[in-house]
Amino acid sequence: MDLGVQIGPLKAANPLFLASGTWGFGELLSRYFDLSLMGGLVTKGLSWLPREGNPPPRLAEAPCGLINAIGLENPGVLRFREEIWPRLSQYGTNILVNVFGETVSDFVKVVEALRSLPLAGIELNISCPNVEKGGLSFAQDPKAVKRLLREVRNIYGGFLVVKLSPVGPVLEVAEVCLMEGADALTVANTYPALAVDLWQRRPALGRGSGGLSGPAIKPLTLKLIHEIWKRFKPPIFGCGGIVSGRDVLEYMLCGATAVQVGTATLLDPENPPRILEETKTLLAKMGEEKILSLIGALKS
Ligand SMILES: Cc1cc2nc3c(=O)[nH]c(=O)nc-3n(C[C@H](O)[C@H](O)[C@H](O)COP(=O)(O)O)c2cc1C
Repeated sequence: MDLGVQIGPLKAANPLFLASGTWGFGELLSRYFDLSLMGGLVTKGLSWLPREGNPPPRLAEAPCGLINAIGLENPGVLRFREEIWPRLSQYGTNILVNVFGETVSDFVKVVEALRSLPLAGIELNISCPNVEKGGLSFAQDPKAVKRLLREVRNIYGGFLVVKLSPVGPVLEVAEVCLMEGADALTVANTYPALAVDLWQRRPALGRGSGGLSGPAIKPLTLKLIHEIWKRFKPPIFGCGGIVSGRDVLEYMLCGATAVQVGTATLLDPENPPRILEETKTLLAKMGEEKILSLIGALKS
């Protein structure tokens, strides 16, 4: 059986990647399973300066999901480069670095700092506020995304992925990304959500609202991917609520070339290798030799 995929120029032994933010930089997860089993890993989001993130509570449970408002806590790109990368690069699989900024020049500074490392690629998280536009998220503003992609493409020739927000003019933003040289899209980030603490009569999360992830969002994201696939046929990382091998194959049928597993890793750190095994078993049951044959094969 052949689980190998190629997403844009990147080859991976299998389509399973770990999503940004739910496995940190691997310090704890690598005690549970061999991270080289994964097709690749996408790091926690990095910014130019270190960030402390939001006040607690930062996580709230939802039916079939999780609402988080971590606030993109991270050590900053320079510390990542000096202290974390040397360890991460030993994991023996593709490492993509997730990058975000509050201005276009913030993004550019982070990408510049990463350029010298032998990364598998960079994933731009555009679901963050653009302070030059009064806090409107980049993902709501195709013009800002265009400028961002131009500037980043000017200085980075490697594998470039843009991680879309599921809200806003998603198809328009997807088109801009592809026209401005993105090699692949990650579809998608979390959905804006609110959890309520009834007895305190206030939001359950310190910051107020947060982002919903986990199985609750899978059908929504599947629909989005299928629409993007039908329109542009781009290389896509499917991401949202994957907890089983069946989920992986459903995402691929809808147009994903590879997938990213997030919340499932928090639910049980042994979930990723289990999902991989299930994917193999199910593919055999479907009578498919190559996982590639499933990409976008959903009948209309
Ligand atoms: C605790 C937590 C932290 C996250 N941090 C990031 C991040 O730093 N950058 C990013 O692009 N996405 C981040 N995400 C979003 C995930 O990478 C993923 O897109 C989303 O959770 C949907 O996938 P899932 O349902 O498999 O978790 C985070 C999600 C969670 C739950």
